[in-house]
Amino acid sequence: MATILVTGSTGHLGRQTLQFLLKTDPTNHLIALARDPSKVSASDLPGVEVRQGDYTDSDSLVQAFAGVDTLFMVAAVSFTDRETQHKNVILAAKEAGVKRIVYTGLQRPEGSSFVLTETTQTEVVTENFLKASGVTYTILRNSLYLDAVTFMVGQDACQEGVRLPAGTGKATMISRHDLAEAAAKVLTESGHENKTYTLGASEAFSFAEIAAALSDICSKNIAYVDTPVQEYIDAKVKLGFPVPVASFLAEWGQAVAAGEFTEVTKDLERLIGRKPTPYETDLAKLYAPSSL
Ligand SMILES: NC(=O)c1ccc[n+]([C@@H]2O[C@H](COP(=O)([O-])OP(=O)(O)OC[C@H]3O[C@@H](n4cnc5c(N)ncnc54)[C@H](OP(=O)(O)O)[C@@H]3O)[C@@H](O)[C@H]2O)c1
Repeated sequence: MATILVTGSTGHLGRQTLQFLLKTDPTNHLIALARDPSKVSASDLPGVEVRQGDYTDSDSLVQAFAGVDTLFMVAAVSFTDRETQHKNVILAAKEAGVKRIVYTGLQRPEGSSFVLTETTQTEVVTENFLKASGVTYTILRNSLYLDAVTFMVGQDACQEGVRLPAGTGKATMISRHDLAEAAAKVLTESGHENKTYTLGASEAFSFAEIAAALSDICSKNIAYVDTPVQEYIDAKVKLGFPVPVASFLAEWGQAVAAGEFTEVTKDLERLIGRKPTPYETDLAKLYAPSSL
């Protein structure tokens, strides 16, 4: 039996990882870390201990990590001084005697010069800091979340079309659900010590292919329009997004265009022992008529 603590338990990836951990081996002692423990749903996570902790409060982290063997460290939100927060988590884990840190980062091709604002640099710094910490690690470089399509192109894509400055780029976009299943495997299996995996779909696909899938789902012809960056930002701002958020969303499209998420590794397929969920299936859930 191992004691496994999962951060970000009130968020999508952390909560779903805990749910897979509950199914994987119920004998493990599972702990959910939350800034506000009252936000953790006990019915979602039966039997999971909840501890308070905040990435910006080192003392809270050292206390929360007491007795933990394996720590699942969900990356902090961009634009919130992730570098300091991540260093706080790693140093607290070391002080508390955590044996292994599993960090969820972001897919990045070797030698790429593409920079996602407040994201890419902190990924590099965090990975290097973790490797130098002396704590055994596993790094999960996640591809672009498929779930993020609804933010990038909008939940109204069936009415407005798929508009994004993504060029003809292809990405191994993947649901957080499949990423959480892989994370649960890595957290409970041996053999992943000091390894780095790149987790994504087993094929890369373009936003033109996403538009084609949406055409089937919405039973009408949906076009993909490779939209100029400023036009995309202006459209998002008109919908009420603050300019920095609209610009950041545009950057993810530009990252796809630049091939940041194109590399296929099949690491995820190997970890979960099956083909990842086809993107058409996940898109059908995201754009089901009932969710519109
Ligand atoms: N690969 C991609 O496409 C992609 C896209 C977007 C984001 N990401 C990264 O993936 C991470 C997880 O994604 P997600 O969808 O699960 O995000 P999410 O649903 O927004 O969850 C973020 C989690 O982090 C927690 N958190 C935020 N600030 C914290 C702090 N100071 N101390 C402790 N916990 C804190 C939140 O807790 P509260 O409930 O207290 O806020 C929440 O539980 C994100 O944080 C981001 O770094 C990746």
